[in-house]
Amino acid sequence: MNEAVQVSNANMGQPVPRYDGWLKVTGAARYTSDTPVTDAAYAYLVTSAVARGRITAFDETATRAVPGVLDVMTHRNRPPLNPIKMFIEGGQGLMSAPALESADIHHEGEIVAMVLADSYEAAREGGQRLVVRYDRAEPAATFDSPGADEQLLSDVVPAKADPRLGDAEAALADAAVVIDARYETPPQHHNAIELFSTTARWDDDELTVFEPSQIVYGLKEGLAIQLGIAPERIRAVSHFVGGGFGAKAAVTQRTALVALAARTLRRPVKLVLTRDQGFTLSGNRQESRHHVRIGASRDGRITAYHHDIWEVTARTDAWFNAGIDHSAAMYRFPAVASTARLVRVDRQVPMAMRAPSEVQSMFALESAMDEMAVALGMDPMAFRLLNETDRNMVTGKPFTSRSLVSCYEQASAAFAWPDRDPRPRSMRDGEWLIGWGCATAMYPTLTVNCVVRVRYDVDGSVIVQFAGHDLGTGAYTVFQQEAALRLGVPLARIKVEMGDTRLPPGPLAGGSTGSATGCSAIAIACAAILKRLGLTADADDEARTAAFARLAVGSVEEQGDYAPAGSATGSTASAYRGSPDFTGGVHGAKTMFAFGAQFVEVRIHARTHEIRVPRVVGAYAAGRILNPRTARSQLMGGLIWGISSALHEATEIDRREARYVNDNLAEYLIPVCADIRDIKVMLVPEVDTECNPAGVKGVGELGCVGTAAAIANAVFHATGKRIRDLPITIDKLLQRPSDI
Ligand code: MOS
Repeated sequence: MNEAVQVSNANMGQPVPRYDGWLKVTGAARYTSDTPVTDAAYAYLVTSAVARGRITAFDETATRAVPGVLDVMTHRNRPPLNPIKMFIEGGQGLMSAPALESADIHHEGEIVAMVLADSYEAAREGGQRLVVRYDRAEPAATFDSPGADEQLLSDVVPAKADPRLGDAEAALADAAVVIDARYETPPQHHNAIELFSTTARWDDDELTVFEPSQIVYGLKEGLAIQLGIAPERIRAVSHFVGGGFGAKAAVTQRTALVALAARTLRRPVKLVLTRDQGFTLSGNRQESRHHVRIGASRDGRITAYHHDIWEVTARTDAWFNAGIDHSAAMYRFPAVASTARLVRVDRQVPMAMRAPSEVQSMFALESAMDEMAVALGMDPMAFRLLNETDRNMVTGKPFTSRSLVSCYEQASAAFAWPDRDPRPRSMRDGEWLIGWGCATAMYPTLTVNCVVRVRYDVDGSVIVQFAGHDLGTGAYTVFQQEAALRLGVPLARIKVEMGDTRLPPGPLAGGSTGSATGCSAIAIACAAILKRLGLTADADDEARTAAFARLAVGSVEEQGDYAPAGSATGSTASAYRGSPDFTGGVHGAKTMFAFGAQFVEVRIHARTHEIRVPRVVGAYAAGRILNPRTARSQLMGGLIWGISSALHEATEIDRREARYVNDNLAEYLIPVCADIRDIKVMLVPEVDTECNPAGVKGVGELGCVGTAAAIANAVFHATGKRIRDLPITIDKLLQRPSDI
């Protein structure tokens, strides 16, 4: 199935502007909650004020007295719904149980009622007047909370084996130098700018759902199971998505409720969650703990990597990140051991958030790598390159391509890393302590099964149709470019339609699979078209006209069926069921990853400990780069998110009530323009003809991996203080014994 990619020398596409740029800057791009619906009723959700317990009573009197209120749905009158399988088990759901199932409360902010009204204002007023009484039980909020249950991940998910190689304990006991450190990452929330919303409309027995989604076929299938109807009767539409980051990949409880309400009221129903409701009605990045031990010889060769992980999940359903499957592939580790544990608490089920496992495990590993370099008295970049590998040591399988050394060389030169004085607290500019740090970025290269339909008309126009998704990433643009490249047609002649289950099942927008998968399928469809026409991509207008005349047709349409080589299903069948068969990464005949090297400068004020990041350089190699402009935006956005993780971002939990405290964008801190200074993204040319037919590795998640460690390492270099729990804030620098 794999074929060599024939593009420019640098293996990069053209930096063309966005396909949908004009629509977006003029406001013409229609996001799902903007979709006009005639005669819509509005829904407002009432959510639980306690994290654990039971509802003992409702008083709906004041609610029903609000003019315009039509109905109140609670567990007492909700029509039947079925459970669904979790996304993580190959299903579609964020959680298995439907909403309003019983009087039991599982987490703070859980749906306890839905008020329906003629206007949003009336629904909200009715919701706020609803009286709910609870029998409150003591919740467990997070790690170390009374009642939090710890389990081995392998006991919960038997298929999930912890990576293991050789005898790590013995190697650690024999190691000349050992780093033994514990790291911690906080809970975070995706906080896409576009709020969660659902609009449902029934036309007789046909249901149309407008909802921002990273996988509309999953939405359709999951909803069909919940409602107990045939998936063919549901259409899910999501033309534009205003940020997803994982939060819009699984079916949440709200969708089925809105569909039920629309059926009961016999009119369309529209729901838009408030910002704070979004904190509990979808998943989030769970907090994690890491115990890392690395052993090395005096000359800097790693002899063992031991990494235990603890992750929080809900009592109701187990979400887990991938443990150290990926970080164990990072370096030449002769011995590896790991144990992953889940800690069950009374919170909502977590969900993948941009580079879910990598952001956490690489903060720990890349911090520990820096600690080891310091202990050895080695340059941290040189230490990493000394332990470079051409294979995943755990599986023994070689990388299809790995350009980490080039990334380090190019980024370090651009950063002027050789000018660094390695001694902590040695670089200073007046009252500002200067620190330079580096870390590795990586993300597995995955594709999923997908189907595209491409039609080529005699007038030279092309239409590409599949239910892919653009989260704001530039997916429309790169798919347009790919069809142009494969057919030899000018961009302006190519139309791309996505985000609708009336189209064939395109790739989900998740796991950085979208571009590689979509382009692989487009290549297949375009090759079939050219073959039928007897044309090549460099044919001129005359040859094209003659080819269509020979076939006596006005257009040629072909379907591109892409199933990743070595995938579990080996076909596109499960794509129609919204069940993507992620293939690649550490699985399969070879190991597939994209890599990067990140260098940062921090400046810390000697008196106030204010932390600034004036300079970041990241160099990335991710196979063929489809569009350097959109790729750079993805990687820069990732780096900025990395800065956010390092210095700003954390969801604060009231430990007594298991409740999120800063559930708004005023108190949930993210960087603003003044926090972001000079960011340089470098795209390192890399040709990979084995990872997938498109030769594309994807850049959606890569940029935010390792960044927080680079900053923590720079903070150590500036101050001599090692902060092992994110985010790194002024108070933590002040708390640590100081001689600044
Ligand atoms: Mo991403 S966490 O794969 O949307």
